[in-house]
Amino acid sequence: MKSLSDVASAIKPSATLAINALSQELKAQGVDVVSFGAGETDFFTPDPIKAAGIAAIEGNKSYYTASSGIAPLKKAICGYMEKTFGVKYEPKNICVSSGAKHVLYIAMRVMLNPGDEVILPAPYWVTYEEAIRMCGATPVILKTDESTSFKISPEQLSAAVTEKTKCIILTNPSNPTGMLYSEEEMRALGRVIVDNDLYLIDDEIYATLVYEGKFVSAAAIDPELYARTVVVNGVSKTYAMTGWRIGFAAGPQPIIKLMDTYLSHSTGNACNIAQYAAVEAYSGDQTCVEDMRREFAKRRAYFVERVNAMDKVSCLPPDGAFYIFMDVSKTFGTTLCGEEIHDSSDFAQALLKHGLVATVPGAAFGSVSHIRWSYATSMENIKKGLDRLEKFLNNQPTA
Ligand SMILES: Cc1ncc(COP(=O)(O)O)c(C=O)c1O
Repeated sequence: MKSLSDVASAIKPSATLAINALSQELKAQGVDVVSFGAGETDFFTPDPIKAAGIAAIEGNKSYYTASSGIAPLKKAICGYMEKTFGVKYEPKNICVSSGAKHVLYIAMRVMLNPGDEVILPAPYWVTYEEAIRMCGATPVILKTDESTSFKISPEQLSAAVTEKTKCIILTNPSNPTGMLYSEEEMRALGRVIVDNDLYLIDDEIYATLVYEGKFVSAAAIDPELYARTVVVNGVSKTYAMTGWRIGFAAGPQPIIKLMDTYLSHSTGNACNIAQYAAVEAYSGDQTCVEDMRREFAKRRAYFVERVNAMDKVSCLPPDGAFYIFMDVSKTFGTTLCGEEIHDSSDFAQALLKHGLVATVPGAAFGSVSHIRWSYATSMENIKKGLDRLEKFLNNQPTA
């Protein structure tokens, strides 16, 4: 048989799969594993949004729509972007598709040629690196650490630019670190982006989940940056709607138009019914967003205090999103619950096996010193998980 696509064959399976598989296997055996792996909230989709979805089904919204989304949703997104972030768009600047993940991929697809370079600050969300490669382009990883709060500097960005650089991807606030670029920091990076004629993909999917500092959209910085920025966002995290699969890009019309064309020959439109639910999400009462944010803020405060009270691990307080990126490097070269720990994958495996706590090893995000915890789970689970972590670090297995 002839060989399959080189590009597809080179895609790395998610490094989180091994730990997920182990966690699921243990759960199937009836073992009480506490899981902190999921990048989705434990809240339910708010009732008015559910009702809009039900009304869409009953109103027979069961047909194809325009590939880049229905007009009422584009209008609702424009209203939301202006009201929430002070950025003005017209419906022709909006492209809706099946989740921000897909929108990101399509944005890259229409922007990149094989051989182009894309600057990607690490730690980064797992999908970007593979999506860049799936477009035949090359990720240029910029390492960061706690000393700069996991943020890149304008100088670092400038030094990484070559004649092949097409684009940079920023996530603000970040998954996995939770760090937030301030307006000033974004402005300084924006200068380098404009001066070097780059595009910016700004993934703002966690923009409403901010606990420290003020979120400012890259598109709100100045007109020059606005003109070369594709903002990516969606309903998944803000409205507890991960399964509804609605995300959008807001950006320059030539890019949005090509995305529309690309979609018309690939997925076509995002689910019609889910689009109507998203209209309600973006144009309805926003109290649910603040309610969820407040609950996350409580969990974050508890998590950070507990982790930093422990000897062998530490974390920076995240500004936003719902992740703790915990440094476990002090345990390297030691033995915990009988397991030798050399990197954060060893740590995560041992913590799962002996502490019955599932986390994601940092290698998946470009850091071998950390593990990622999602605190989008109940306080009860958080307490239980951290008690188990404490025992594990004291060589007392739960299992
Ligand atoms: C940084 C980041 N961008 C995008 C996504 C994808 O969101 P969606 O559910 O809209 O595809 C995620 C989900 O985990 C994420 O963490």
